[in-house]
Amino acid sequence: MPGVLVTGTSSGFGLHTVVELARRGRRVYATMRDLGRRGALDSAIADAGVASRVDLVRLDVTDPDSIASGVGEVLAGAGGHLDAVVHNAGVAVGGAFEDVPEAEARRVMETNFWGVLRLTRALLPSFRAQRHGRIVIVSSNSAYAGEPANSIYVASKWAIEGFAESLPFEVGPFGIEVVLVEPGSYKTEIWGSSPRILPEKSAYATMMRHLEKVIDEKVLASARDPREVAKVIADAIDASRPRFRYPVGPDAWIGHVARGKLPTRLQRFLVSRLLGLHRVRP
Ligand SMILES: NC(=O)c1ccc[n+]([C@@H]2O[C@H](COP(=O)([O-])OP(=O)(O)OC[C@H]3O[C@@H](n4cnc5c(N)ncnc54)[C@H](OP(=O)(O)O)[C@@H]3O)[C@@H](O)[C@H]2O)c1
Repeated sequence: MPGVLVTGTSSGFGLHTVVELARRGRRVYATMRDLGRRGALDSAIADAGVASRVDLVRLDVTDPDSIASGVGEVLAGAGGHLDAVVHNAGVAVGGAFEDVPEAEARRVMETNFWGVLRLTRALLPSFRAQRHGRIVIVSSNSAYAGEPANSIYVASKWAIEGFAESLPFEVGPFGIEVVLVEPGSYKTEIWGSSPRILPEKSAYATMMRHLEKVIDEKVLASARDPREVAKVIADAIDASRPRFRYPVGPDAWIGHVARGKLPTRLQRFLVSRLLGLHRVRP
């Protein structure tokens, strides 16, 4: 059975998606930028009894040479035919925009935006030639509305959604589908591994400290099991006619339904109240 390429499979949604797809009988090309971090995936596929359906391939979505060699290796293994790609690799950075160094902002855009574009460009010729292929992009409920201390990540997900909404006009006639998966808050490594930028003399220190507390005590406390997202990604690949958008989790569904319906100032007021920002003064 033709396979699926998944990016960023050392942890989180990527790891669980590999297991879920392999359990459903798919051949999975599990890619990661550092094969030294394969331990958790190796254990997960061994425990699930699906290791024989999974090939590990090195692929760093920010490195054009790595994309070229990774895609070459995957297509050679798949006999030139892939069913789908799951653009899952992603990074974040927390902090007030003014405090976030440009290099950090570029790292997020290079991964979450340019990484998806580069890998898509590398796969389109084979998808077009076979007149079939599904491009699944892991976006976020952060693509629905502005968020404090998260402007770079939010911008990266808005950018990728604009790309995803535009691409089907061009590739749809070749039988290629584009799908957005938009999770709410889930327990993965991204929360701990993303830098939180707070310089000692930051003008935004009071707000940042308040938000850190809210995130750690409220958002993370209610974050959900990432296997829910893996199931939705696999459903989107299995569906004969996939939807364009798959919000995942209650917070994502609320954002999805409210999207574009409230005036932006009212939305900002409600988010500020929800996070207690109205009580914080610089
Ligand atoms: N968790 C949430 O609440 C949430 C909600 C909405 C959307 N998302 C999105 O879900 C996706 C997966 O994140 P996650 O939550 O599962 O976090 P995660 O556990 O941190 O997984 C992120 C994965 O991306 C990989 N990665 C980072 N930079 C890469 C690069 N340059 N090339 C290839 N792989 C790279 C990481 O590899 P390393 O091990 O090498 O760092 C890791 O495997 C991201 O796109 C994220 O924005 C997450």
